[in-house]
Order: sequence, then structure tokens, then C-alpha cells
Amino acid sequence: MPLIKLLKTSTFRLAVIYLALFAASAITLLAYVYWNTAGFLARQTDEAVEAEIAGLAEQYRQGGLPLLVHTVIQRSRDPGQSLYLVLDPAGRVLAGTLDGRPQVEPGPDGWFDFNYNRKTLDGTEVKAARARAFYLQEGFYLLVGRDVQERREIENLITNALIWAIGLTIALGLVGGLFMSRNMLARVDDINRSSRDIMEGDLSQRLPIAGTGDELDQLGLNLNAMLDQIEALMIGMRQVTDNIAHDLRSPLNRLRNRLEITLMQEASPEDYKQALEKTIAEADNLLGTFNALLMIARAEAGSLRDSMTWVDLSATLHDAAELYEPVAEEKDLSISIDVPEGLKIWGNRELLSQAVANLLDNAIKHGLPLDNGNDRTIVVAAGTDPVRPGRGVVLSVADHGQGIPPDERQHVLERFVRLEASRNTPGSGLGLSLVAAVARLHAGSIELEDNRPGLRVSLFLPVSGR
Ligand SMILES: Nc1ncnc2c1ncn2[C@@H]1O[C@H](COP(=O)(O)OP(=O)(O)OP(=O)(O)O)[C@@H](O)[C@H]1O
Ligand SMILES: [Mg+2]
Repeated sequence: MPLIKLLKTSTFRLAVIYLALFAASAITLLAYVYWNTAGFLARQTDEAVEAEIAGLAEQYRQGGLPLLVHTVIQRSRDPGQSLYLVLDPAGRVLAGTLDGRPQVEPGPDGWFDFNYNRKTLDGTEVKAARARAFYLQEGFYLLVGRDVQERREIENLITNALIWAIGLTIALGLVGGLFMSRNMLARVDDINRSSRDIMEGDLSQRLPIAGTGDELDQLGLNLNAMLDQIEALMIGMRQVTDNIAHDLRSPLNRLRNRLEITLMQEASPEDYKQALEKTIAEADNLLGTFNALLMIARAEAGSLRDSMTWVDLSATLHDAAELYEPVAEEKDLSISIDVPEGLKIWGNRELLSQAVANLLDNAIKHGLPLDNGNDRTIVVAAGTDPVRPGRGVVLSVADHGQGIPPDERQHVLERFVRLEASRNTPGSGLGLSLVAAVARLHAGSIELEDNRPGLRVSLFLPVSGR
């Protein structure tokens, strides 16, 4: 993987930001540690020297130069870490632990750091020292100081440790950042590759899931769920298109053949007239199918939700029943209505009455009682939903025909599905599809039940659309 690409990842950028923050706090912490150790040692040295100077100044005040020189000689016998030097105006050593005056000029505060030779058992060693120097009266020179070799070494140790600590922090941070970015990038690359495959048309592909349950996995799972949905919709759409093509071809073929046969025969004007009338009837059927399809599409698009109003269900059911009364009578059937006055729901009046019309049409067309002794009433009922009193209504149409076997009840809701028993009745198998779509549009559900005997179709609809 190219390094540039790695450096550009947001993971790496995040890692660098964290690294910077971490390094800053680490440096602050270490600086504090340094100040507390090395700084403490340095202050201690200076304080010790100042204390010695104070002691010697006291001697000098009491006994003048002779007492000072005497004290320095005495102290020089067992000096410990202390350093002394007293010079006469000519520069000769009168007393002290040093061989001569250091070749370093003191700073403005009188302090200075220098190196000196210290005698050991086997020769001399160069050691670091820190001291303060004064000129006394008559040009005498006094130096009081302290060996700081050990202190310097400790300081070096601490400084080295600090530099290593900071260096290691940054190095580990960078390596860790690169490593994390590489992992992340590898997974994002996988996702990109799969998305490209999907975009190129392989809708069955899914994004890889690492199984770690992190946010990339969540994203992948959600996108996969979305793809499932899209795929299902696409398949549904293809089926519908296939169905439409298939189901409209036969009536169109029939229509065309009839016209052709009529043309080939020696026909009287009366024959022509008959043929044309049949053609118009077929065309009406086709138009009906198209209208039903369009209505289902409209109900499923959901855009009708904006045009909803309070619909008086009682009035709608009465109107629909009145419309189908004559057709029912022709088949010796009757329609009874069991609806309380003023039952209202929030919905689309046109679609609701079309749904009831479709159910009545089915009851009359497919719901004829098999035995003559059976009840010949179609019951249209509506009322509050016992499960959701006050918030939902149930609307049902029930007949006493042959009913629909339980394993077909879901199937008949699909478009263009007609059961074997209905092959001889006119229709295109779209009626129940529209009823189901209307139920969905109103955020409700549809249920097909056994009416013992017969079929009862119930719609459960929320009163206020949710
Ligand atoms: N009340 C019923 N009793 C028995 N079978 C029914 C009943 N209602 C519907 N069916 C069955 O369900 C099938 C689908 O009904 P649907 O209303 O969708 O189509 P259709 O009535 O055949 O045609 P269309 O309604 O488009 O004129 C019917 O063909 C029929 O086999
Ligand atoms: Mg129907």
C-alpha cells in the first residue's frame, strides 16, 4: 500500500493529532520531573556554597584576613565536596584546595562553572565545579565553590532518559498510527471494491463484514440491509413487468385475431357491428386493467398521503353497497350493512371506496354459495377495532361461498394472481392487490379468514393514519 495513501487517511491524521497531544503532555510531565530533580540538585549546590560564604564572611568580619585564611586552611584539610582558594594580590596561593585561579570569568552575579584537576590515588582527574569569587580589601581573592561532577552526571542521565522517552513515544505513536491506518485502509478498500462490483451490476454482492461489530461493520450491515431491500424491490418490479407483459398479451392477441378473422370472412354489416362491439368490450377490459395497475401504483407510491381527509366510512360503505345491489340481485344475493353512524377515519375517500367495491365485486363474482340451502347474504361491517379501541377500525366484507384455502390467502394478494376456480370469471387478478395496497397506504393491514363457509376479508385501519 503506498505510503502517501496511508498518510492521507483520517485514521492516521487522528493518530498524529493524538500523538501530538500525548507528546505535549508527556513533555510537560517530564519537564516537571526534570525541574524537580536536576533543578533541585542545582539549587542545593548553590545554597551550600552560599552557606559557606556566609560562614567565612562572619570569620572575616571578626578576625580579618588572618582568621579567614586560618579557617580556609582548616576547612581545606577535610573539604568533602567543597572547594576553596585564597590568593594574595600577586596571585600566589595562600590557602585552599585548588592549584590556581580558574581561567573562567565569573558571570554578572559572581557565579561561574569551570573544570579543575582533582588529585586521586593514581594521578589527577578533570572534574566539573561551580563557584563564586570575591575580591577582598587590598586585592586579596577568595573563591568558594563545590564539586558538581556527580550532579552533572545525574543531570545527563536524566536528560538522556527524557530524550529517549520522548523519542520512543513519538516513534511508537507513528508506527502505531501507520499500522492502524493500514488496517483501516485495507477494510475501506475492501468495501470500495465490493461497492464497485455492485455498481457494475452484480446486485447479489454484499459488503464484507469483519465481524468485529465496530462502526465500519455497522455501516456495512446497514448498507447490506439497504441492498437487500433494493434487490427485493428490483425483483418485485421485474415480476410485475413480466406479469403485465404476459397478462396483457393474451387479450391483445385475442382482440387482434378476432378483427383478422372478421376481415377474412364474407361478413354482413351486422357481423362487423358485432365484432366491433366485442372489440370495444375487450379494449374496455384492457383499460380497466391499466386503470387498476395505475391505482395500485398510486397507492403504493404513498404520495396520496398528502391528499387525505376525514372520510365518513358509514356513508362510503352505504354508497358502495347501493352501487352493487343490482348486480347482487341478479345472482339472487343480498347485501346487509352493519355500520354505526358517523364512523370516520383519516384517509383517501376514492381509494377506500374502490377497495370496498373490489371486495363486494369479489364476493358477488367468486363468493356464490355452493349449496342452495346456504345463506345468500353478503355482510358488510365496520366498527372500532377491539384490539385498539378508539384508535383503530375494522372494516370487513364476508360471503358464504367456497372461500380461499389458507395456504393461498397470502398469494392472492399479489398482482395478477387468480385461483384455478375463477378461471371462467372475468377479471385480471388485481382487485385484492389494490385492497392490500390501500390498507398499506393507510398504515393498516389486511386479513383473509374462513367465514365457515366463505371468505371474510378484514381491513384493520388506524383512525388517524398512524
Ligand atoms: N370472496 C371470494 N371467494 C372466493 N375466492 C375469492 C374471493 N375473492 C377473491 N377470490 C380469489 O382470489 C383471486 C384474486 O382476487 P382479485 O380480486 O385480486 O382478482 P379477480 O377478482 O380475479 O380479478 P379483478 O378483481 O381484477 O377483476 C380471485 O381470482 C379468486 O380466485
Ligand atoms: Mg376481484
